[in-house]
Amino acid sequence: MTSMTLPDQLRWTATFLRSQLLTPIPTPTSNFSGQTVIVTGSNTGLGLEAARHLARLGAGKIILAVRTLAKGEAAAQDILRSCHGNADVPDGAPTIEVWQLDMSDTHSIRSFAERAGKLERLDAAVLNAGILTYKFETQEGVESHLAVNVVGTVLLTCLLLPKMRESAARTGLRGRLTVVGSDMMYMADTRELQTDGSIIAKLNDPARSQVKQRYPLSKVLVFYSLRELASRCPLDDASDVILSVLTPGACKSDIFRDDMGALGRMFMGVAMAALGRSTEVGGRTLVFGVSPDLTAEAHGRFLMDNKIAPNGTNVDGPTSRELAGRWNEEFFAYLEKISPGCTAF
Ligand SMILES: NC(=O)c1ccc[n+]([C@@H]2O[C@H](COP(=O)([O-])OP(=O)(O)OC[C@H]3O[C@@H](n4cnc5c(N)ncnc54)[C@H](OP(=O)(O)O)[C@@H]3O)[C@@H](O)[C@H]2O)c1
Repeated sequence: MTSMTLPDQLRWTATFLRSQLLTPIPTPTSNFSGQTVIVTGSNTGLGLEAARHLARLGAGKIILAVRTLAKGEAAAQDILRSCHGNADVPDGAPTIEVWQLDMSDTHSIRSFAERAGKLERLDAAVLNAGILTYKFETQEGVESHLAVNVVGTVLLTCLLLPKMRESAARTGLRGRLTVVGSDMMYMADTRELQTDGSIIAKLNDPARSQVKQRYPLSKVLVFYSLRELASRCPLDDASDVILSVLTPGACKSDIFRDDMGALGRMFMGVAMAALGRSTEVGGRTLVFGVSPDLTAEAHGRFLMDNKIAPNGTNVDGPTSRELAGRWNEEFFAYLEKISPGCTAF
């Protein structure tokens, strides 16, 4: 179910099909020489492929932020193997570090950000880790999509921002932080956000939750929050960091690993075979989101096919703006409660 009108649904279906079937995503060529970049959820899927591109593009240090260190070490070896003997890799292979990060655990996020604060420089971050599940589960009392895709992601953005600002001011190179969202946000049923009470309490209540709708809803919420952060942190000398959200498009990864039943699996299999991008191609869009050539217009915007995407009803309709305002008011107060001072920019 979606809160979109039929004309909006048709428009977005056409946009989606055009994007998947007709829009080539060029191999990134930007120069990341000497830069330090964090990629979360980079042991597999889109994050791994984005990190591989960054290595090819000359990044000085790539930090693979992963939940399981052994998986991260295997990914680092895999990337280094693909750099080895690759004439396209300038200045030899980059330094790849593997750092532990559990995006559903606020303590882990704070420790990670504290460690990142000690880096010599931090030029860019791709906040890619995310989940899609049909089971209602909670982490620290928070529904799991909300915990990983929204709370963890926005909290990490807030905690990395001071370091990225300081780094940009020192190096003179504009910082870039992008969150991997999804164009499924345009199809989300935002009616679940309508309540006279707490939106967060409602989303954490299994009796009032539609868990099968939660993934697209989580991607709307993370966009609402990043757009709000971008408006609180306009680009200037004190905060020269572009904040954006992007969609990689539908890609053949393990994100759909949850049991969706035989029919669901069959449908996804056929749809992905017909339309899905490889993770290598999807990974290119992640690199675009943190490209040193990204322009200031991207700040607070949603990127699709390496361009700023037009706005849709869930993003810019009058009801959505009102919902976004109520969400941000409650959510930023909530973030302050779980990590005092994190939203004081
Ligand atoms: N594939 C698509 O069609 C598509 C479309 C639009 C948007 N996206 C978004 O793209 C991003 C990457 O997804 P993908 O397709 O590459 O899927 P994936 O292969 O399932 O990768 C997800 C990554 O997130 C990590 N992760 C999950 N929960 C975590 C946690 N609590 N702490 C730290 N890391 C965690 C996973 O780590 P583990 O391996 O340890 O689980 C994995 O590295 C997600 O945000 C997804 O929503 C994907």
